[in-house]
Amino acid sequence: MSGERIVRPATPEETAKETSLPFSREQIETIAQEYPTPFYIYDEGAIRQNARNFLETFSWAPEFRNFFAVKALPNPHILSILKDEGFGADCSSMVELEMARRVGLSGEEIMFTSNNTPADQFALAKKLGAIINLDDITHLDFLEKQVGIPSTLSFRYNPGPLREGNAIIGKPEEAKYGLTRTQLFEGYMRAKEKEVQRFGLHTMIVSNERNPEYFAETARMLFELVGELDDKVGVRIAFINLGGGVGVPHRPEHEPVDVKQISTQVQKDYQTMIVAKGLDPLQITMECGRYITGPYGYFIARVRHITEKYRDYVGVDGSITSLPRIAMYGAYHHLTVLGKEGASREMVYDVTGSLCENNDKFVTQRELPKIDPNDLVVVHEGGAHAIAMANEYNGQLLPKELLLKPDGSVLQIRRERTMDDYFSIIVNFPGFGK
Ligand SMILES: Cc1ncc(COP(=O)(O)O)c(C=O)c1O
Repeated sequence: MSGERIVRPATPEETAKETSLPFSREQIETIAQEYPTPFYIYDEGAIRQNARNFLETFSWAPEFRNFFAVKALPNPHILSILKDEGFGADCSSMVELEMARRVGLSGEEIMFTSNNTPADQFALAKKLGAIINLDDITHLDFLEKQVGIPSTLSFRYNPGPLREGNAIIGKPEEAKYGLTRTQLFEGYMRAKEKEVQRFGLHTMIVSNERNPEYFAETARMLFELVGELDDKVGVRIAFINLGGGVGVPHRPEHEPVDVKQISTQVQKDYQTMIVAKGLDPLQITMECGRYITGPYGYFIARVRHITEKYRDYVGVDGSITSLPRIAMYGAYHHLTVLGKEGASREMVYDVTGSLCENNDKFVTQRELPKIDPNDLVVVHEGGAHAIAMANEYNGQLLPKELLLKPDGSVLQIRRERTMDDYFSIIVNFPGFGK
């Protein structure tokens, strides 16, 4: 039934989330005069601060490194900011490798974790001196034949039934990634015979997980393997990579993940499982994307039409093609109406785009302040796996990306796609193509 009204005050958590935005309605109105909605905007100052805090949290660990998962927010401006903060890049494809190269990352600042990998991507990774992380035992021979064996090599471990995974990534047993436990031991044995000099060990078991214990447990699992590989295969692991997957607080009542707790627990286990056994120094690395940029990006759209059907709808000028993870995973992303931060909840709305798909909804049956045409809405947690997953179904063109600089100025870091762009790759038809 439409027109249904509820009136309740915003909760303190809703108010806190909405008033924590790094911009006001007035600022976005000014920005929108030059860069019309819809757009993504990223808060450079907050990304830098978060990156620094993250490195500081793990500063006890010898040569700790986070390889930023380029797939989370594949824009060279962002990668360059993170390089500046001391991060490397986790790349999974030719485009991501090339982006890392063009922002000036090289050698072991890049880790290449790919699956079902073609030869030319291994070739580029090897040429750049990136750490190659093999996803399968058969890739060892493939790599050797195609590009030769590098002196540093890592394997991705899939513990299968030994670990549970989580809802987004699924059960390790059902995942296509990595080597089984048996294959892992064989892999290192064969790599040793092929005269690899430096070995890494990688895994990635959970995604968007907010329970710190998962990551501490992953570190324990890898520390144990480091000991076993030393014992049984005579391979000394030089670095481990705990993967990415550290979650972010999507709902107002969510607390941020306590990365200090992860670090403290990993440090304790490092002492007892690595140092005490003479297996140090062991470099600890991660490849977090979402945790680094997720909360500091926002999708901004303007309200077009308010319609009353069996439900109340707010139609905005962006579609879920720009933020597909909401439709893919039924993910909760908080929505703030600019200028109405912390206002009473008076209505229940579905906020929609223009797709011919009924899952084109940024929020569904959400209690929100009353919304009017021309209002600006902000969809939170748009800084990772957001535009990265965007598509152009229904001819909805990719939105632009803006960077909010620490001095308050705005830099456009990707323009929107135009109809000319869209038509330019059609060939052999008059009026299309370049
Ligand atoms: C191998 C690998 N590493 C890192 C990441 C980044 O994950 P997150 O952005 O959740 O940290 C992903 C995500 O898909 C991944 O597949």
